[in-house]
Amino acid sequence: MQFSTLIDDLAVRGWSVQRAFIPGHDSLRLAEECRRREAEGVMVPAAIGRGGSQAVHEGIRSDRILWLESGQSAASDLYLQLMDALREQLNRELYLGLEEFECHFAFYPPGAFYKTHLDRFRDDDSRSVTAVLYLNPDWQPDHGGALRLYLADGESLDVAPDAGTLVVFMAGEFPHEVLPTQVDRLSVTGWFRRRAALPLSA
Ligand code: OGA
Ligand code: MN
Repeated sequence: MQFSTLIDDLAVRGWSVQRAFIPGHDSLRLAEECRRREAEGVMVPAAIGRGGSQAVHEGIRSDRILWLESGQSAASDLYLQLMDALREQLNRELYLGLEEFECHFAFYPPGAFYKTHLDRFRDDDSRSVTAVLYLNPDWQPDHGGALRLYLADGESLDVAPDAGTLVVFMAGEFPHEVLPTQVDRLSVTGWFRRRAALPLSA
């Protein structure tokens, strides 16, 4: 099965890192699109929180984002289709009841970071699984910019944002941060969502 190690990892320990999850030419096309959007000035400073409490806090994160929509390019459609196939397999094998996948390009210019956080909103736990695809073909260790994932028992894991690497983890379980990057850092960051729980009523 195409996604079997990823799904086994998620089931057993709640996270997985897949190198070469997509071929180099596909991540290159996504990187080109992300850079083009950045050059066009359509990427916007990322906000924190939801709805009325949404606000840009440059002390917490300093990336710029653009949501992917189907039909915007062949490269992003291919990725959305792949992630939809993964969503269906996660539902078949782990019964996660994931209803959709949402994702955005993220562009971290030199000096940008994202301080430690969880990917679940306080008032909405529908984001179940985080999936980040990295798009940087020539990443070097001294570029910084690692994703640091805080695991159980005080352990942590640093993931280099190498082109084609996909990291997935249970969104509500692992605090994580993006360490300051020295060079442009490009990714597609996304979440598999369940239907938002209805408020309990009498
Ligand atoms: C996020 C995030 C991690 C990364 O956007 O919520 O944690 O490695 N991104 O880009
Ligand atoms: Mn996050």
